[in-house]
Amino acid sequence: MPGILGLVSRIALERQHSGKPANMIKVDPTRLFGRVRSRLLSTYWELTLGISTTDRSEPVPKVFNYGYVTLPYPTIFAIIRHLALTPTDVFVDLGCGKGRAVCCAALLPIREAIGLEYDKRLCSIAESNALRLRGRRAPISIRNIPAEHWDYTNGTVFYLYNPFDDSVLRAVVAKIASTLAVNPRPTRLAYANPWHEFVLEESGWLEQYDRWAPPEFDGSDHPISFWKSKSNQMWKDGGHNAPLQEIKAT
Ligand SMILES: C[S@@+](CC[C@H](N)C(=O)[O-])C[C@H]1O[C@@H](n2cnc3c(N)ncnc32)[C@H](O)[C@@H]1O
Repeated sequence: MPGILGLVSRIALERQHSGKPANMIKVDPTRLFGRVRSRLLSTYWELTLGISTTDRSEPVPKVFNYGYVTLPYPTIFAIIRHLALTPTDVFVDLGCGKGRAVCCAALLPIREAIGLEYDKRLCSIAESNALRLRGRRAPISIRNIPAEHWDYTNGTVFYLYNPFDDSVLRAVVAKIASTLAVNPRPTRLAYANPWHEFVLEESGWLEQYDRWAPPEFDGSDHPISFWKSKSNQMWKDGGHNAPLQEIKAT
């Protein structure tokens, strides 16, 4: 039960720091229920999968929301189901933290699950989680590298939980686009808490195909948007906002 006690004290702290007088702070029962349920499920899944990815002992990140936090398991499973991974897919988590999403993706028989993480300490935790994961059906690679420096040539499915600001996201999107000229392929992307989705909108080669409102069932409050490369199109020169060229169907 320490998880639940931790949650209760965190909620108490949030209330204390909200700046509102105590009698003006209302507890939303649906949200509270969602958070308790999510905490219980998190414990269940961590024990079942043999990994440790919770974020409750993390220091508060310097830049809000760009440090390590993770989504509840049911949300990650739902996102992965919606991405409809196939055996040829290479799933890449850009900013994988302790590797929860990478481990979840590797439960499916895909080609590879890759986690990119620039924080060395988080990276080694992700590596040991990858080694310990029970029920793994795909190879996992964890790389201690900034996402903007990775070679995305083989990646087909990209997962982002609001890992960085718009300038890094722009660099990453341009990098992925440049690989489409070398290796033309359909790609999908899930972006949770999509603060900078205008970057994807402006890319010219991605289109949004779905958007979820914050899932009430898990107590988190982030929308999730889903993107795919525009059909039958590839980058001519791989540049950001470059014109698109039709791929001739063979
Ligand atoms: C919100 S957490 C998401 C963790 C993981 N994707 C998940 O869903 O469980 C964002 C992560 O991105 C990492 N990160 C931030 N900027 C990065 C960059 N430029 N390259 C690689 N990782 C980065 C942070 O260290 C943090 O672990």
